[in-house]
Amino acid sequence: MFQPLVQFHDLAHPEESFEAAVLAGLSRPQKSIPCRFLYDEHGSQLFDQICRLPEYYPTRTELGILEAAAPAIAALMGPGIQLVELGSGSSHKIRLLLDLLKEVRGYVPVDISSEHLRRAAEAVARDHPAIPVTAICADYTVDFDLPPALEDGFTKRVAFFPGSTIGNLEPDEALALLRRCGRLVGRGGDMLVGVDRKKAKPVLEAAYNDAQGVTAEFNLNLLTRIDRELGADFDLARFAHLAFYNEAEGRIEIYIESRIDQLVHVAGHGFRLSAGERIHTEYSYKYGIDDFRCLSRRAGWAPLAHWSDAEELFSVHYLRRA
Ligand code: TRP
Repeated sequence: MFQPLVQFHDLAHPEESFEAAVLAGLSRPQKSIPCRFLYDEHGSQLFDQICRLPEYYPTRTELGILEAAAPAIAALMGPGIQLVELGSGSSHKIRLLLDLLKEVRGYVPVDISSEHLRRAAEAVARDHPAIPVTAICADYTVDFDLPPALEDGFTKRVAFFPGSTIGNLEPDEALALLRRCGRLVGRGGDMLVGVDRKKAKPVLEAAYNDAQGVTAEFNLNLLTRIDRELGADFDLARFAHLAFYNEAEGRIEIYIESRIDQLVHVAGHGFRLSAGERIHTEYSYKYGIDDFRCLSRRAGWAPLAHWSDAEELFSVHYLRRA
């Protein structure tokens, strides 16, 4: 009898909302498109490439911190926990972590990109046959519930939110997400979250403007996706990737900039862009250690521990529901 390696639950309908989100976003005075739409199949692959770029320090720095802190993390987690990863992507980090954290008794990856999620979850299940894997296709920026079958048999749930993805939310949304994670893990649950730190502007800006142009390709792939899925006529040669650090706001700002005055059509609607006009695609907020501890307290968490690297580039925080 065929036993699926991974249980799969689809709670998301991203295709239904993509057109509405793009049309609404392009109709605003400051044009914008939500960053979650960057991660279609090709976008997810490009993002994996970004994570390996020499300029993109967050991924490897976070992994180094997690490896060094693994014994302390395992001690805080305690035995028999179920790990719920939000925005699991390729699940690279978890595959390393599961080797270090022997206490994990269940892995629940949550991601919006369905096929990517399925493949990644199956790879984890193959490498860790003793750990049940339950993949949840969902948009974690809105409320969702874990399927009830997951409620049984675990003493404790720990939410895992690596990659400083929390920085891609506005501070009030980050607060809401931290609260949502508190509800997901329930009473006595914990959270392990990766947060990029404030630092010198050139280091930050290089990470979002790599020499090979992979980040530019990733950002502009959004237009390719709109052309393909919504029947639009964006010409990539007429747009440029733009990313810079806004020191006052403590965030990297990422845009797609129109190189010329032009008219584009999306799903039968016309939109004018003037030369230099920007479509906002993402913010990446950076947090000082104390800024983040303060934010997590406001969301009902007790910050128990935090770790960083020698260069103070990145941080990992361990929180417990207060
Ligand atoms: N979470 C990543 C970050 O803020 C996402 C990211 C990296 C990103 N590079 C990007 C998003 C370029 C859009 C464009 O670091």
